[in-house]
Amino acid sequence: METVTMEKKRACVTGGTCYLASLLVKYLLEKGYAVNATVRDPDNEKKISHLLELQSSGDLQIFQGDLTNEGSFDAAVAGCHLVFHLATPVNFTSEDPENDMIKPAIQGTLNVLKACVNSKTVKRVVMTSSAAAVSINKSTGTGLVMDEQCWTDVDFLASEKPPTWGYPVSKTLAEKEAWKFAEENNIDLITIIPSLMAGPSITPDVPSSLSLAMSLLTGNEFLINGLKGMQMLSGSISITHVEDVVHAHVFLAEKESASGRYICCCVNNCVPELAKFLNKRYPQYKVPTDFGEFPTKAKLIISSKKLLEEGFSFEYGIGEIYDQSVEYFKAKGLLQ
Ligand SMILES: NC(=O)c1ccc[n+]([C@@H]2O[C@H](COP(=O)([O-])OP(=O)(O)OC[C@H]3O[C@@H](n4cnc5c(N)ncnc54)[C@H](OP(=O)(O)O)[C@@H]3O)[C@@H](O)[C@H]2O)c1
Repeated sequence: METVTMEKKRACVTGGTCYLASLLVKYLLEKGYAVNATVRDPDNEKKISHLLELQSSGDLQIFQGDLTNEGSFDAAVAGCHLVFHLATPVNFTSEDPENDMIKPAIQGTLNVLKACVNSKTVKRVVMTSSAAAVSINKSTGTGLVMDEQCWTDVDFLASEKPPTWGYPVSKTLAEKEAWKFAEENNIDLITIIPSLMAGPSITPDVPSSLSLAMSLLTGNEFLINGLKGMQMLSGSISITHVEDVVHAHVFLAEKESASGRYICCCVNNCVPELAKFLNKRYPQYKVPTDFGEFPTKAKLIISSKKLLEEGFSFEYGIGEIYDQSVEYFKAKGLLQ
């Protein structure tokens, strides 16, 4: 039998407050898992209010866990069969990416993996990496296909220091360290590599990645420039529904034959093409379509071939991703 039945087993999710983790916790509870979610500050009731609400739908325990504290995840991981490691420091405007993102991302990943070794109960670890750990390189031109063999060029980022360089470096080095530690300590590790996520959130605040994906519709110039910067640095604007990313995490956790890295990306695009699509689908928001000299083709695509060949299928295409995100933004009063 290919699929491991893990119902009623306990899973730990790190970074429980975040966009992706909140929906992952919800889905795991719906599937009958007991869940230990870690949050940095369990006393911040506003920040964890959505998790407190989820406690009525299943066995959800909330633990304190900080990436920068050795041993911080031991209690949450103890007794778990599965660990989903999502927590990561995100600070795009940091003036000290080394200390704000890179070191804590690596240290925190090792802390979580050490807790898994100590537990003696963890059978598989699924770590959330990022397309930012795969697609950034110096090469020019178009038509590149990025797969799981590809790694972001950290030396290029560390020497050129383009805006937001610390985040992709932190994700790349944390994932590389995870693979090294897993091999040395015989951990069954899977890494999942999502592109930019969009779709409704259950967090109290609107996630920043969703605001970025929605910027052409809201007209937020700062974020539109961020989206353009993303295309220039990462090579594309690649988008996936957050629920598909959640489903891919559980699919890979349960699939016995799964191993290695998996890219999870539904749609590959670029800013001008995305703008044309949104302008046509939602004419009321008057999305700009003239980007002057800005490249009208993505440099690359991020391929989910391996994930699809494993048997996974995406539920939501670009139309549904944006229809649902528009409704969510309207409900939040962020779009008319
Ligand atoms: N969002 C995307 O489009 C996207 C795309 C590709 C990959 N990913 C990856 O997917 C995962 C989830 O992303 P997301 O956007 O949902 O996350 P997010 O909303 O940016 O939140 C990051 C999470 O990490 C936690 N965290 C930060 N520093 C921490 C520390 N020192 N100790 C413990 N926890 C800490 C935060 O806790 P607090 O609430 O306490 O701050 C928060 O729960 C991340 O690994 C991210 O790199 C995201």
